Amino acid sequence: MKEIGGVDIKYLAEKYGTPLYVYDFNRIEENVRKIKGAFKYDEGRVKIYYALKAFSHPVLIKFLKDRGLGFDCVSPGEIRLALECNADRKDIIFTGNYESYEDLEFAYKLKVLINLDGINSYLRLRKIGKVDFISFRINPGKGKGKYEQITTGGEKSKFGIPYEEAVEAYRIAYEDGIRRFGAHIMVGSGILDKDFFPSIVEHFLAILKKIKEQIEIEFEHIDIGGGFGIPYFDDKSELDIGYTGSKVLEVFNEKVGEYRLGKPLLAIEPGRYIVGNAGYLITKVCGIKKSYHNFIGVDAGFNIFARPALYGAEHSVCVYNGFDKGKIIANICGQICENTDILARDRELPDLKEGDIIIFTNAGAYCSVLSSSYNMRYRPAEIAIYNSKDHLITRRETFEDYVSRFCSVELEGKNGKDEGTGGNA
Ligand SMILES: Cc1ncc(COP(=O)(O)O)c(C=O)c1O
Repeated sequence: MKEIGGVDIKYLAEKYGTPLYVYDFNRIEENVRKIKGAFKYDEGRVKIYYALKAFSHPVLIKFLKDRGLGFDCVSPGEIRLALECNADRKDIIFTGNYESYEDLEFAYKLKVLINLDGINSYLRLRKIGKVDFISFRINPGKGKGKYEQITTGGEKSKFGIPYEEAVEAYRIAYEDGIRRFGAHIMVGSGILDKDFFPSIVEHFLAILKKIKEQIEIEFEHIDIGGGFGIPYFDDKSELDIGYTGSKVLEVFNEKVGEYRLGKPLLAIEPGRYIVGNAGYLITKVCGIKKSYHNFIGVDAGFNIFARPALYGAEHSVCVYNGFDKGKIIANICGQICENTDILARDRELPDLKEGDIIIFTNAGAYCSVLSSSYNMRYRPAEIAIYNSKDHLITRRETFEDYVSRFCSVELEGKNGKDEGTGGNA
């Protein structure tokens, strides 16, 4: 691998330093085009809300807004960022969980659509003010995800209202006089099985049918969440997004009609699919060690690339301008003082030397956003490449940034142990 979006990787590493996140915005544009095509995007009938949590950068928000996407936000901070990037409040959804009174008040005052995570979220919301539209996140009793940690439907999930209790939720709102409704599911992330999506939508709509049979309501907004996967190192094939979109639409249109659920808009909330394969983490080899394993130490740790440590995720690894034949089997590790700081395990690598550049691919979603400055290893700069031009979109964090939040306080009074005892006695 030598280039990203037509720009030489070594040039980027020298110009901006490493570690460095690089995003190919032409690839993002292509992903948007693909998912819009697959779901026959149409403002009035099918709407795409990018899940901001995957990579929440203002440059990306504006880029996606200009291409017609709305935004799914999980916190007041994300809502605020989307608004500051001039997203229309009508194009923003708030899907929190265990939302505080303050979270709900924030979203309520801004009049963004809220997917409520529980019945008691609704009880908090109605204390804030009058609502005329309610949407609940339902846990449909099953889910799927590339890892258990990112499977968000089913018995082990903390999200949503168990589907058996969903009628009760809608009934309470109905008895309060609410007549406009939505419904939401989000059952997992990183799903590559094209048949899963139409089948979970069918199951979801059957749940809504049961609700409708008990309370005569219709739905204006039916949101099936995100979860559309991309292939990583250990996956064999990619998600057939064309088939997924058309089958979902087929099931949706058929069942919504059959169950007389109203004329709902279909909403999807892709995150990973939009940015995942457009991001790269550029690192430099700092040290090579032959221990009980071979270790290649690079200048990025799990503090800025958490997915391997967090989920056991495996990203593909490329070496700049090379990688013909594997010569050694090695673990690639970072510089963080934790044994979990392994970024790739048992990889076949060529003979490497200090200063060589290693690139982790598919690092666009849930990578830089999970960064911290643990060990005082600072967060990297970020670069957008569009039409073969590189742009700095996030500057590298510095020591001064890190310490700027500390408050200088003189703690007064004596340590109890010191009083009259002369210290540690
Ligand atoms: C509510 C909600 N919507 C959408 C997404 C996006 O999921 P993905 O990136 O898998 O498309 C998530 C991810 O966790 C989510 O929690």
